[in-house]
Amino acid sequence: MYEELEEIKNKCLSCQKCGLGKTRTNVVFSDVIQNPKLMLIGEAPGFYEDKQGKPFVGKAGQLLDKIFASVGLSREKDVYICNTIKCRPPENRNPLPDEKAACWEYLKAQIDIIKPKIILLCGNVAVQSILGEVGGITKIRGKWYQGEENVHGAKLMPIFHPSYLLRNDSREKGSPKWLMWQDIQEIRKEYDKL
Ligand code: URA
Repeated sequence: MYEELEEIKNKCLSCQKCGLGKTRTNVVFSDVIQNPKLMLIGEAPGFYEDKQGKPFVGKAGQLLDKIFASVGLSREKDVYICNTIKCRPPENRNPLPDEKAACWEYLKAQIDIIKPKIILLCGNVAVQSILGEVGGITKIRGKWYQGEENVHGAKLMPIFHPSYLLRNDSREKGSPKWLMWQDIQEIRKEYDKL
């Protein structure tokens, strides 16, 4: 698995299929982890990720680490973290359709090689890339979707993006943060069944 992923990563590192190839500092392919059963797909690299070539290393990533740690999961042992697109859009704007289309082959290869049992779709961009138009994240988060052949039958759950949680600080019952803590516990339960 490691060699196959390295091969795709190397292809991605020299990719110029869309305009982001010219503006990026680094391609952000994924974390490296052995035999993950759980994959998280984010949106796109931000400022710090582009500088370091690693996913979710800024403030949003630190919050994500805390969310996983609250149920005993970690990106070093359990969660393969990657993004829908591998290069940073200028000023962190949303990825454009042609950028998502150009990058799909890399995300698809990551899914095909790893075949995770559970995929967390973190924010609207990731949801759309896998599930299409199923509604906004506030309506569909926390629900399990049965993935089809394109994701090898993985169970899929849309979750809030940590950047959204950073903008909504309340922890009151029913708030986005509170909901995220419900979702991560449900995810842990399903993970324990694997
Ligand atoms: N936001 C994302 O969606 N991905 C990252 O890697 C960082 C921030």
